[in-house]
Amino acid sequence: MFLVVLQFLAFAAVPLFITHLLVRYSKLRSVPGPFLAAFTDLWRWRAQQKTLFYGPTLVKLHEQYGKLVRIGPNLVSISDPAAVNVVYGTSPVLAKGPSYKVLVGLSQGKLVHSMMTMNEAQQSAVMKGVGPAFTPNAVLEYEGFVDESEALLLAALRKQKTIDMSKWFQLFAMDVLNRNAFSESPGFLEKGTDIGDMLQTVEKRFSYYNTWGALPDLEFFVHKNPLLRWMGSPINNLASLARSQFQKRKAEKGSQSHKDFLQKYLDGQAKYPTTISDTNVVGLVVSSIGAGADTTSTTLTATLFFLMKNPAAMSRLNEEIEAAVRDGLLSQQPRASEVSKLRYLDAVIKESMRLFPIVASGLDRIIPAGGREIAGTVLPAGTIVACHPESVHRDKDLYGEDADKFRPERWLEGDEERVKKMDRAFLGFGCGKRICPGRYVALLEMKKLIPFLLMNFTMKLEDPDVELEDRVKLNSIKYTLPIMVALDEKTSSKGG
Ligand code: HEM
Repeated sequence: MFLVVLQFLAFAAVPLFITHLLVRYSKLRSVPGPFLAAFTDLWRWRAQQKTLFYGPTLVKLHEQYGKLVRIGPNLVSISDPAAVNVVYGTSPVLAKGPSYKVLVGLSQGKLVHSMMTMNEAQQSAVMKGVGPAFTPNAVLEYEGFVDESEALLLAALRKQKTIDMSKWFQLFAMDVLNRNAFSESPGFLEKGTDIGDMLQTVEKRFSYYNTWGALPDLEFFVHKNPLLRWMGSPINNLASLARSQFQKRKAEKGSQSHKDFLQKYLDGQAKYPTTISDTNVVGLVVSSIGAGADTTSTTLTATLFFLMKNPAAMSRLNEEIEAAVRDGLLSQQPRASEVSKLRYLDAVIKESMRLFPIVASGLDRIIPAGGREIAGTVLPAGTIVACHPESVHRDKDLYGEDADKFRPERWLEGDEERVKKMDRAFLGFGCGKRICPGRYVALLEMKKLIPFLLMNFTMKLEDPDVELEDRVKLNSIKYTLPIMVALDEKTSSKGG
């Protein structure tokens, strides 16, 4: 009898499974894309594991299929700049998609949300308390931390003729961020190494997202189900690192003199004790370090890389810097107030982030009730959509026929309306309500460091033929492999 029931179930399961696949398929059948992707998320999972550089793969798929590409049974990638406002606009705000769940941390058996993974209501409440830590004016309070790290980087680079730019910018960004977060750094730049495996921990977290982002439900079942949580599943220790700094600060009563993220988050908690819990404060520190270190270092590496590969742009930037120095408008260690006036520098950073946005895949959101029309197709409620930054940023109608080239001038020329449109489609820091809150911190670091380095060194790629695509590895965000750069100290800076 038991065997008969089993056989019946087996026979019934096959047609049920096929029906399930067909129903899944038919939901978005009008959106083209790779055949297998319409049936299973395993297609995307495999593409993300196998393709070292997922970004260009998606760019090619958009070239092949058009502005909408179905890259999962319920997931549509978008390359249309006009859709940016629909997907990331603020009325209404579209909820983040399920892949973010994978980034929820686990510490001492508890799920720890970072700002990145909070839902809209939680994020709004928390931003009320901690938003003041990220305004353009507030970030100027961190300028001293950037100065300290810059001085240490300069001292370290002066001892070397050739450096691995990727490594030193990672150490720099992590050093600045530790100072920003805790008013101290364990010495990443003095020791020239990853202390406490913090860089490794952040990288592992992004790599984890890359492994599981396409399969969030399976990830929850395998790693975060209550039984495993009770057993203490060791996912990442970034949350634990942040927790220990938090406890240390709480123990140092009366330390309000600190002007760092942690203190600002604790001030926010004191103001809104019912919305910002201790776990939130830990999660926010995790967010700040996790989301801010490697994003900044990779962007710095890419920007210097583009400059070295494009001598005309490098010369124009050097001229802008030299003219400002000559006119007494740029100090030896450039100030934030001074670099904010360097328009070409601004265009260089934007152009680098346009061609090399940090996020390789998309930033997924859920289509709300009523559905939405995107690029001429109505996508039903519940569809997961993601604008693909790299594809949007290479739209030739918007950025010009030379959209694939590094040409900072495009941000400075042409009619104002067009530049505004380019700005509105810019996804380098995300867009809308969930836009990167740390963008002014990152810009402060990058706008200060790039002129500072160019005032002190002539920088050249050791291998002038190397291409950035060949030096990239993917961990959901882009990381760069070692990129060797020859440094020649400028005579004017020697002895300074
Ligand atoms: C060049 C450097 C940086 C780049 C390219 C960058 C990029 C991004 C992007 C694309 C997002 C949007 C993700 C989404 O829509 O889910 C984001 C979110 C975020 N970033 Fe950044 N980021 C940078 C630096 C920083 C820094 C320095 C910090 C902290 C000090 C930071 C903190 C955050 C946080 C907390 C979020 C989550 C916001 C939310 O979900 O509401 N980022 N970043």
